Amino acid sequence: MTQHLVIPARPARSGEGEPSAQRRTGWWRDAVIYQVYPRSFADANGDGMGDLAGIRSRLPYLRDLGVDAVWLSPFYASPQADAGYDVADYRRVDPMFGELADAAGLIEDAHALGLRVIFDLVPNHCSDQHEWFQQALREGAGSALRKRFHFRAGKGENGELPPNDWESIFGGPAWTRVTEPDGRPGEWYLHLFAPEQPDFNWEHPAVADEFRSILRFWLDLGVDGFRIDVAHGLVKAAGLPDLGTHDQLKLLGNDEMPFFDQDGVHAIYRSWRPILDEYPGERIFVAEAWTPTVARTANYVRPDELHQAFNFQYLGTPWQAEPLREVVDVTLDAMRPVGAPATWVLSNHDVTRHATRFANPPSNSTQIRTPGDRELGLRRARAATLLMLALPGSAYVYQGEELGLPDVTDLPDEVRQDPSFHRQAGQDGYRDGCRVPIPWSGTAAPYGFGPVEGGPSWLPQPQDWAELSVAAQTGDPTSTLELYRSALAVRAKHPALGAGESVEWLDAPAEVLAFRRPVPGQSNADVALGASSGFVCVANTGSTPVRLPLPGRPLLSSGEEPVLADGEAVIAADTTVWWTC
Ligand code: GLC
Repeated sequence: MTQHLVIPARPARSGEGEPSAQRRTGWWRDAVIYQVYPRSFADANGDGMGDLAGIRSRLPYLRDLGVDAVWLSPFYASPQADAGYDVADYRRVDPMFGELADAAGLIEDAHALGLRVIFDLVPNHCSDQHEWFQQALREGAGSALRKRFHFRAGKGENGELPPNDWESIFGGPAWTRVTEPDGRPGEWYLHLFAPEQPDFNWEHPAVADEFRSILRFWLDLGVDGFRIDVAHGLVKAAGLPDLGTHDQLKLLGNDEMPFFDQDGVHAIYRSWRPILDEYPGERIFVAEAWTPTVARTANYVRPDELHQAFNFQYLGTPWQAEPLREVVDVTLDAMRPVGAPATWVLSNHDVTRHATRFANPPSNSTQIRTPGDRELGLRRARAATLLMLALPGSAYVYQGEELGLPDVTDLPDEVRQDPSFHRQAGQDGYRDGCRVPIPWSGTAAPYGFGPVEGGPSWLPQPQDWAELSVAAQTGDPTSTLELYRSALAVRAKHPALGAGESVEWLDAPAEVLAFRRPVPGQSNADVALGASSGFVCVANTGSTPVRLPLPGRPLLSSGEEPVLADGEAVIAADTTVWWTC
């Protein structure tokens, strides 16, 4: 709900109002960036697979939603062993998504609408169908091309054991043995993910040269930036030392690993930054970097490296006031010294949608397999969104979360495509549940995802998604879509929202997060004279209503309206309310 209050407008930033997408400075410091998963966003040609033409046709929807930029997961030539994160040709669009002209047209259309466009870059590994890898296989042991990957002789009497004990993130050993051209079992190659995704050797100059050239290729086409896939993985510890333990997946994100977050990766990003900076229009890099701490993540966004890094610690935090407050503080404290904006994210294509995570008891895993209490999950998801959008910095929205979509937890095993699901015999790898094509309109699948009612979609959509479609939610003031639209509109306009380095916590009951964001540049004297003193966000994560001193005038609530009486406000359970004051 929006209460129709007049929000004091933000002072114009330099260049604002100009028609071009390249207008204001530091746009990325408070940008809301929308992740499009190309397979599942919109299917223009009706083959059941999303495509670039479909995305182009829906750009006005994203402009109207109020986001600043669109990040596209990979659409490059790929055998799709890992849904496009296995790239066979970095300069070609896979025919299933269209052709290069569609990518160019998409950038052009987006810019005309005032949206920026970020592409996914996958530098840690390629596809086993990449021409370098194919040639390396054909040429056999000793091939110069093998030096661009991590080929090693095996251990054991006949080289029958992997060169070290590293495990693949997708399960099983991180090494696969090749059959040499003479038909005999030969060397092994490293793949931190699927066997179809051989890791590049970033010590090799040809690899570094190739990626600098790929960056320029897309920058020349006009892209506004890159999301760097597995940015923490490119450099491996010298000598590829054993870890000495099994179940290594469990250590990820907590422990130091010889294949992740090595200090050497930073030299690569320092070499990329000047390339980006040569191009006009403030283009950006965002790191997908899994590190043990937010402080380690901050290393990726030092002034001469990347611009932003996803805040996975925030994504993994349950809907509980205390851990949330802690992760907000830790994040802001870590980003302040490096001058990078904090980022906030609740969902992406690799984790169970947050409406379903919050519908279940808190868990250490971001892969949840039960639907839980769907109504509660949605209520909390909406509250979590208003909390996220009130925090200082930049925020990421994953396609469909603005519709309140739950994860699809009951996909039949035979339709699942997540390579991890198959490699781990169903123990993990439930990422397909958040990748189901999104509903746009109509009463039957594919709900406007494709052009024909009853037409295909690469993953089946649930039968009850008609009511969640964009068309069904548009204009309904209680819908999650309208909540996002209102929230993004307020966020864009309120002078205290957007960029910033800190929040001012207010006293509140234990299950409540309450903070104030002052209007930048305003002194206490201004406030005494009656000027607006800012914005307050109150998130009640508890299961009962709470009563607080009235923080200001309510702007927006994720659920029931707050009850205001006698200088106090009562805020419903699992509800966030925005206030202006
Ligand atoms: C990243 C991507 C994920 C992919 C993996 C391997 O984590 O987000 O989808 O499977 O990298 O490329």
